[in-house]
Amino acid sequence: MIYISPSLLAADFSTLATEIKKVEQAGAQYLHLDVMDGAFVPNLSFGPDLISSIRKCTNMLFDVHLMIKRPERYIDRFVKAGADIITVHYEACENPMSVIHLIHSYEMRAGLAISPKTPVEHLFPLVEHIDMALIMTVEPGFGGQSMIPETVDKVATLRKYCAERGINLDIEVDGGINADNVSILTSAGANVIVAGSAIFKAKKPRAVISAMKNSAPTSFR
Ligand code: DX5
Ligand code: ZN
Repeated sequence: MIYISPSLLAADFSTLATEIKKVEQAGAQYLHLDVMDGAFVPNLSFGPDLISSIRKCTNMLFDVHLMIKRPERYIDRFVKAGADIITVHYEACENPMSVIHLIHSYEMRAGLAISPKTPVEHLFPLVEHIDMALIMTVEPGFGGQSMIPETVDKVATLRKYCAERGINLDIEVDGGINADNVSILTSAGANVIVAGSAIFKAKKPRAVISAMKNSAPTSFR
């Protein structure tokens, strides 16, 4: 199954409720929420209070991507705000395994993200303990960048590693993805697709979301 997770970072912040309804009605199942701390990444976005206030706008699954140093300090705040999946960065945790345990202790789904320069092999010992891996396809920090082609191989390597061991892992990809390049990633084995600009700035978001869902090999849809 392919899940589409529009990144709210690309929405018009002056009309958030309308923007959220727009992508929900266009067929998105998840809403991707990029939290940036100005330290792990050179940008600031929003935090748990905003997430908590938009929780009442939609039943879409809240896919919270924490670009925060030492995220264990804030997990409880995002749980209370209404997150469904909490993804932390491998590079931002002193002990990724203990943060995964912490997220699971709240009965939340736990994701682990790697930035483009981090080898995918670092995820291997952890894949049995997480619900989702996030392979960043741009350097985290900003929407509207171009997808880095070298990241596609990391998706394929991780999918193969999991398939050989019978592990049914969600693999999410994030950054610079649009209706034209998404099939390279879904063919490599990604099944959760984040797209900000390509969906929120589209004239016909429903068409973009359908094209993204249909980009996967038939066995995946
Ligand atoms: C980058 C964020 C992405 C970004 C995606 O740090 O994690 O979610 O907003 O935006 P686009 O699809 O515009 O690259
Ligand atoms: Zn993101």
